[in-house]
Amino acid sequence: MDSQQVLQSYTDKKILITGGAGCIGSNLVKTLLAGKPRKVVVFDDFSASYWWNLPKHGSLEIVKGTILDEEGLKRVFYDYPDYVFHLAAHFANQNSIDHPETDLLVNGLGTLKVLEYCRSSKPKRVVFAGSGCSVYGSHAKIPFKEDTVSLTLDTPYQVHKLLGELYCNHYHETYALPTVNARFFNVYGPGEVPGRYRNVIPNFFWRAMHGKQLQITGTGDETRDFSYVGDIVDGLLRMGIVDGAIGESINLASSRETTVKDLAESVNEIAGSKAGIVYVPKRDWDKSVRRLASIDKARKILGYEARMDFKEGLKKVYAWLQENRALIESSISPNDALW
Ligand SMILES: NC(=O)c1ccc[n+]([C@@H]2O[C@H](COP(=O)([O-])OP(=O)(O)OC[C@H]3O[C@@H](n4cnc5c(N)ncnc54)[C@H](O)[C@@H]3O)[C@@H](O)[C@H]2O)c1
Repeated sequence: MDSQQVLQSYTDKKILITGGAGCIGSNLVKTLLAGKPRKVVVFDDFSASYWWNLPKHGSLEIVKGTILDEEGLKRVFYDYPDYVFHLAAHFANQNSIDHPETDLLVNGLGTLKVLEYCRSSKPKRVVFAGSGCSVYGSHAKIPFKEDTVSLTLDTPYQVHKLLGELYCNHYHETYALPTVNARFFNVYGPGEVPGRYRNVIPNFFWRAMHGKQLQITGTGDETRDFSYVGDIVDGLLRMGIVDGAIGESINLASSRETTVKDLAESVNEIAGSKAGIVYVPKRDWDKSVRRLASIDKARKILGYEARMDFKEGLKKVYAWLQENRALIESSISPNDALW
């Protein structure tokens, strides 16, 4: 099935996206709206995102609220969504080190509550945003395959992302809820606003755009599997409709290993920054040296493929940050601005 056929499966359907204003969610919303759904509902508390990042569209309803609040949940499940994409989360590792209880509440209890509402509203599919950067731990064999997870994890975020998967599996096994766990790896793309707790790519570009050195925490030889958000959205949409995905955990990634040093050099080159790179000590919890996902299972079950060339993807991020520079400057707090 090509991506257009996948999207057509959502025509005239009702789709609920928790955390739909975030980086991945806002891209999912834009793609879905192009497929003429009956309605897309975004349920987001905007604790880590901005209204301006979502389009204005007659088929899009935006509900501000937290997945911890029963009234809000009742409101967004009232209309019996056909598909639920549960992307809302307290993001990510450092944030969870600084705020471990909030992380447990949102990523643990919040996920449980969403699943409870799914149990009574019976959507055709519930796709959960899991994290391959989390569940495999820091010492797994490369490339990471879906058949094992680590029980020794480095941050509360990682623990709670695994907990979310376990809850989904429990609801699938016990209540036959048609769940799928997507395991993402370092997703990047237009739509991610830089900030203290955000990913390395928008933060590197933001520093480069302000003529600052790029700070590498570690030696720079650490690798990550940077995955373009457009590819991730395509994978998520496939997870929503392919029956073979039900009850499974599936990596969605690029299956390409890039060193952080190579990334930093590419960012400085694309942004035309001469400020260079500075090396600072690793954060205590960051024990992950290499990260590379196998996407064999996604290819086999979903017909997924990672299509975006890395440099092209980076150029798209830079273009988006330039285009939205004024909005971003006015949205993020000065403390976060040049993290
Ligand atoms: N981006 C990545 O590299 C990556 C990697 C692995 C897993 N994930 C997972 O994918 C999902 C989406 O990631 P993202 O990069 O778009 O993150 P994001 O932070 O941009 O989006 C999460 C959204 O959830 C919202 N939110 C937070 N707490 C909420 C609450 N209590 N109620 C309702 N909404 C709430 C935030 O405002 C934000 O809009 C998350 O579940 C994340 O854990 C992302």
